[in-house]
Amino acid sequence: MATSLPSVLISIPEGVLDLSWGHPSPRLHALDVFQRAAAHAWATTRAATLQYGAEQGFGPLLNALAAFLSQQPAYRMTVAPESLFLTGGASQAIDLACTLFAREGDTILVEEPTYYLVSKIFTDHHLRVIGVPTDADGLCADILESILADPSQPKPALLYTIPTYQNPSGSVLSLERRRALVDLAQRYGFLVLSDDVYQLLHYGPPPPPPLVAFDDTGCVVSLGSFSKILAPGLRLGWVQAHPTLIRRFMATGMVASGGGLNHMTSTLVHAVLDQGWLAPNIDMLRTTYAARVQALAAALRTHLRDKVCFEAPGGGFFFWLTCPPHVDTAALLPLAQEAGVSYRPGPGFSPSGGFSNALRVSFALYEIDELEEVVKRLAQVLTK
Ligand SMILES: Cc1ncc(COP(=O)(O)O)c(C=O)c1O
Repeated sequence: MATSLPSVLISIPEGVLDLSWGHPSPRLHALDVFQRAAAHAWATTRAATLQYGAEQGFGPLLNALAAFLSQQPAYRMTVAPESLFLTGGASQAIDLACTLFAREGDTILVEEPTYYLVSKIFTDHHLRVIGVPTDADGLCADILESILADPSQPKPALLYTIPTYQNPSGSVLSLERRRALVDLAQRYGFLVLSDDVYQLLHYGPPPPPPLVAFDDTGCVVSLGSFSKILAPGLRLGWVQAHPTLIRRFMATGMVASGGGLNHMTSTLVHAVLDQGWLAPNIDMLRTTYAARVQALAAALRTHLRDKVCFEAPGGGFFFWLTCPPHVDTAALLPLAQEAGVSYRPGPGFSPSGGFSNALRVSFALYEIDELEEVVKRLAQVLTK
């Protein structure tokens, strides 16, 4: 029987170019790679593919992933298989970390601005979300320190940060601040949830190593994902942390009852790594996205000069555009949609509803010619 139930997360109205989604464009999906990987996994892993998986995750993938990350210029550290735990993606890992390391009513600190969808996970866990200011170098560690030292402020259980190619701002936390943040977590006794899903997507020189590289006591949980470097439909990612924290993830009731997370997909992704197909896929994505960053930046300079300020990102998926203070990007959105373009207004990224004159656009879903067209449409609205 025909069904009208949707197959994928988003549907975009005909005629609209919607820059609000960080989803890869259709031609970037590694369809052939997965066809070959499936054949390889069935031939090699056989019946174990369909069994309950090991608590930490599929062993061969843990080994292959540790070796892969250890070779990446963006990691610059040796990643031990004992420091990894396979997850159903970064979102699921954040949810699990909240279950394991926070209680209802606890405080979680986040960047201002932060990834707009993550807040829902924190409110699902009844956490109190408080913003910490950021600048071009990421989270302001000095302001964080004054918040932590202030006895009138609640002591946080967690701090959530996206240190590399931040969503939405594209900023990269400086090396100095990375060290300072880990030091503060150790001194004040909170856990850092470091969302590193864009760590490997650099379009120029690699970023500083992830925060977990500076943690020798177990105060950082790094969240990695295959969503941005392979395919989001896999729902597969990993946690990298001190082995004492990894044991906490392995001991969760969900794993005790259901086995390691996303086991069968892990066998497929293991085949991709084992055959050496992941690195070329990431290279292809870097080349594609780098060209889009250049094209979008050039179009913004041509059509919106003086109307928006931005820094072209060195990696990740997003441009954060700041308009003059009187512009209300949420109020302009219906007009933009009438002009055939959509974006994500700034206040959605702020726990306190700030950034009313900012907007986030993503280049992940569109090709260069579409990005040029989209900026022309945006200009019709923002230059009024
Ligand atoms: C910062 C950030 N974290 C997490 C996610 C989602 O990751 P996953 O697909 O692994 O759940 C996204 C996707 O847009 C993101 O931008």
